[in-house]
Amino acid sequence: MRLVTALTLLALAGAAAAEPFPGGNAETGKKLFEQNKCSSCHIQMLGGDGSGIFTRANRKVKSPQQMLTQMDACAAAAGINLSASDKQHLGAYLNRYYNLK
Ligand code: HEC
Repeated sequence: MRLVTALTLLALAGAAAAEPFPGGNAETGKKLFEQNKCSSCHIQMLGGDGSGIFTRANRKVKSPQQMLTQMDACAAAAGINLSASDKQHLGAYLNRYYNLK
């Protein structure tokens, strides 16, 4: 019985580690990204669809925490309000570029 509990906990820990934005839904994040016009500044900076900001060689975000911090900075600059769950959704969406663990 102890072994089963230990294995279950290990499995849960593994799942948590593989889920940098728990509760985030990438499809919801995509909608939020469009609704909030998240690309507007990034397009002005880099052209195209703006996604180059997420794939540039010297990109800044290297961890889920940095992603959240950057989103706060962008939202503040744009004067928009993102809830904690909005940020989890956006993180899950943007993680297709970052593949953060
Ligand atoms: C007011 C303009 C503006 C808006 C609107 C904006 N951003 Fe940004 N964003 C920036 C700037 C400027 C940078 C580059 C910051 C840097 O290089 O230090 C950036 C960078 C980023 C990065 C980091 C890219 C990297 O280097 O890894 C992420 C992630 C990001 N933005 C997400 C978002 C999201 C999500 C939204 C919508 C909620 C958003 N941004 C809206 C201006 C904006």
